[in-house]
Amino acid sequence: MNTNRLSKKITKALNEQMTKEAHAAQIYLSYGAWAVGQGYAGIANFLFRHSHEERNHMMKFMEYIQERGAKAIVTAIPAPPADPTSINNCFEKVFQHEVDNTSAIYDLVNLSHEERDWATFSFMQWFVKEQLEEETLAQSLMNKIKIAGGEGAKAEALYNLDKDLEKTPDEGKKAEQAKEE
Ligand code: FEO
Repeated sequence: MNTNRLSKKITKALNEQMTKEAHAAQIYLSYGAWAVGQGYAGIANFLFRHSHEERNHMMKFMEYIQERGAKAIVTAIPAPPADPTSINNCFEKVFQHEVDNTSAIYDLVNLSHEERDWATFSFMQWFVKEQLEEETLAQSLMNKIKIAGGEGAKAEALYNLDKDLEKTPDEGKKAEQAKEE
């Protein structure tokens, strides 16, 4: 008896999004490694914590695919993009990445609506809400660097920003809790 409750198209799209989340984890990891090299331990810490959160997103997709009786396919993860050229550039890249990810999430919502797969549609609502939070977080990074002076931020402002981000609460815990719900 076939117990797979996902269509081929939805399975493919969910698997692709699972890989995208793994890619996001790699992106934040690589930006964090870059920040360490630049001496920004606080910003690096923030980026590493966020990498962990992206990995939780990946697991959420994997668990859902399996819960619905389909096959989760773990593939190679594309390499992260080039290192940022500055903290300003780093935060711009983070913001753009999150906007692009929101588009990918919306495509999945559309597809599940088209196929009248209401279970997947409902599952995806968590990510719609999550992307709203992620974009807000990325926007707040943009605001912080803007106030610090943007591309021309002075060392003292960057020092303070680094200290500030070391303590900035992120959504890591929340994502972990949601995974357990
Ligand atoms: Fe998994 Fe940053 O979105």
